[in-house]
Amino acid sequence: MTTSPASVRTRRHDDILLVTIDNPPVNALGVDVRRGLASAIEAAEADPAVKAIVLAGAGRNFLGGADIREFGKPPQAPALPDVCDRIEACAKPVVAAIHGAALGGGLEVALGAHYRVALGTARLGLPEVLLGLLPGAGGTQRTPRLIGAAAALDLMLGGRHVGAAEAAALGLVDRLAEGEDAAAAGLAYARELVDAGAAPRRTREAAALSDRAAAQAAIDAARAETGKKARGLFSPMKIVDAVQGALDSSFDDGLALERKLFLECLDSPQRAGLVHAFFSEREAAKAPETRSARPRPIAGVGIVGGGTMGAGIAVAVLDAGLPVVMIERDEEALARGRANVEKVYAGLVAKGRMQPQAMDAVMALWRGSTAYDALSGVDLVIEAVFEDMAVKQDVFKELDRVCKPGAVLATNTSYLDIDRIAAATGRPQDVIGLHFFSPANIMKLLEIVVPARVAADVVATAFELAKKLGKTAVRAGVCDGFIGNRVLAVYGAAAQAMMEDGASPYQIDKAVRGFGYPMGPFQVSDLAGGDIGWATRKRRAATRDPKARYVQIPDRLCERGWFGQKTGRGYYLYPDGARVGTPDPEVEAIIDAERLRAGVAPKHFTDDEIVRRYLAAMINEGANVVHQKIALRPLDVDVTFVHGYGFPRYRGGPMHYADTVGLPKILDDIREFAKEDPLFWQPSPLLVDLVARGANFASLNT
Ligand code: 3HC
Ligand code: NAI
Repeated sequence: MTTSPASVRTRRHDDILLVTIDNPPVNALGVDVRRGLASAIEAAEADPAVKAIVLAGAGRNFLGGADIREFGKPPQAPALPDVCDRIEACAKPVVAAIHGAALGGGLEVALGAHYRVALGTARLGLPEVLLGLLPGAGGTQRTPRLIGAAAALDLMLGGRHVGAAEAAALGLVDRLAEGEDAAAAGLAYARELVDAGAAPRRTREAAALSDRAAAQAAIDAARAETGKKARGLFSPMKIVDAVQGALDSSFDDGLALERKLFLECLDSPQRAGLVHAFFSEREAAKAPETRSARPRPIAGVGIVGGGTMGAGIAVAVLDAGLPVVMIERDEEALARGRANVEKVYAGLVAKGRMQPQAMDAVMALWRGSTAYDALSGVDLVIEAVFEDMAVKQDVFKELDRVCKPGAVLATNTSYLDIDRIAAATGRPQDVIGLHFFSPANIMKLLEIVVPARVAADVVATAFELAKKLGKTAVRAGVCDGFIGNRVLAVYGAAAQAMMEDGASPYQIDKAVRGFGYPMGPFQVSDLAGGDIGWATRKRRAATRDPKARYVQIPDRLCERGWFGQKTGRGYYLYPDGARVGTPDPEVEAIIDAERLRAGVAPKHFTDDEIVRRYLAAMINEGANVVHQKIALRPLDVDVTFVHGYGFPRYRGGPMHYADTVGLPKILDDIREFAKEDPLFWQPSPLLVDLVARGANFASLNT
């Protein structure tokens, strides 16, 4: 056995050399691995006793792709494209034996090999687009030659993973193997190849682009689709350009084009934002309690309330294969709760995305009751009843009475003080906030809200549950609105102030969309229902600072019953159930009247100023939330807004974005806006401190 760098091991099995890549946690292709691979191939080629080579990964994956931590650092030879070329050029057959992830550069290495075998656990994909990149180690050239332009573009533009069977159907792998030992499967395949005298078979020579007209049609369709869909994203069109290069050029010229386009993507701020988002969501899941405490086991979940949230949460839990006991006030409400859950699955069945039998199997995990005693066996309860402290405290008294010792008692409250909810029980150490977002079965964010007296293992349990449900978890402290809704209230107020000061809701929405949001704040309000915000404003009326500016326009709309899409009109008109609204002259008249009443002389806003104000309000309150330790780090604020509030992922999150603009510039803006409304625009002490020290938010993320 020889060892080059420790991350690549080689071992002879008769006349076949097994090359094992062992670079935990995911076998990323860092410089040591690249060197090890290149020298293993060199050595094998030079050794007459070796007739074939097998590449396999140690641990749970084949290769997780290029080492993302190396991006932005000075490149170190050999470059990954050269390693793939070296493998492909090898005069002896090279087999890639794939289990677990073969993603990005990992799949590109496999495409550099001459033959591919996959186990059932294999997940193959070219997810570079999700990091603002394109496959840069020959992937844009080899993939279309191997599986055709349409399938290659689909993989590269969507970034999805395919399983072993689909990979075989696409032609990405040559054969499937049973069992869990990829190396053994690779060695068996290589044995057959050697015995049959098989020669290397190079992907660069594959002929799936030979139907030029079909390939061009696929490229044209992808270009048109990308133009429509890739809102503001840089790399998707570069992927299309690279595939055009694959069709038009020699392999080597295509590779040169790919390299050029890859470097352009690598340099783009979008790549930096997307990589920040990738690492931040993993970092956010590592709250201190997840290191210090072991999660409690969760085998069954209770849900109190079967309305919008309770039903959505039930679906999320059922989707994870966990049984649910739902509690409602009476039989009628319980039947509605069940129907709310069934509606989600029936929708999937109707769209052909779920088999009717699978729906029956999932619904068999659902049980309902109007008696709290039905919760006596569950390990965790999530309360999702009306947003009312007295109602919630009553529910928690009942939970305290019926739940077994050690059961986790969670509330889905949006704003209320969880310490007070916990105090209604004799076991505050078991009470925590699990703040899901609507629709709870779809939205990725889960704010885990940590009250003062909760036990560390309950926090760890919440993070474990998030993982099971496929949610992106963020740890938040208790305050009115936690991280997300608290910051939302502030930039929402900034949007309303701009509306009263002269910008129309339509202009504000357009400007915010121009920044990269899928929808503007007034569209979101119409979608969610204006009544939700109205209820919150009424609840807060008693505690509102009487000196603080309060824009009444939303109340004027709500008083008319204009709650948005569900009532056919809100800020926009939705005639005949339309889902896309049109501007409403009557709303504009109401706004004019309110400006008059408030004595505001409307001024002109540019879209740029709208975005600057909106973002400055968000960033400043984000800084307050970090300063007051409601969020552990700026990256937790970023994850919250990317996953829960539509902040464009390619900008990394508001705090990352602030760093890219420069904190002094953000502070200057705030001080400028403060000339009009000093009470609202108070610079966060943290922002002031960072600017004084010449530091940025990123410095607080480590
Ligand atoms: N480079 C560096 N670190 C990586 C990495 C990579 N490509 N992929 C994952 N990691 C790290 C994570 O940051 C995490 O680190 P931490 O423990 O310090 O937080 C650790 O590996 C484990 O990651 P996950 O928690 O995500 O592990 P899972 O087992 O859930 O998932 C995975 C494994 C499917 C491989 C997933 O990590 C993943 O999707 N990784 C990214 C894959 C990818 O995008 N590859 C393409 C890279 S770009 C490229 O290849 C360019 C090329 O074309 C030139
Ligand atoms: P909803 O009004 O749709 O549902 C509430 C349900 O609770 C109703 O079905 C009602 O019958 C039931 N209920 C009320 N009192 C009960 C009791 N004592 N015992 C059993 N069931 C009872 O409300 P929604 O929107 O689902 O909100 C629920 C909670 O989730 C609130 O705390 C809300 O703030 C929070 N939330 C709401 C979000 C949203 O977008 N709707 C987002 C995140 C959190």
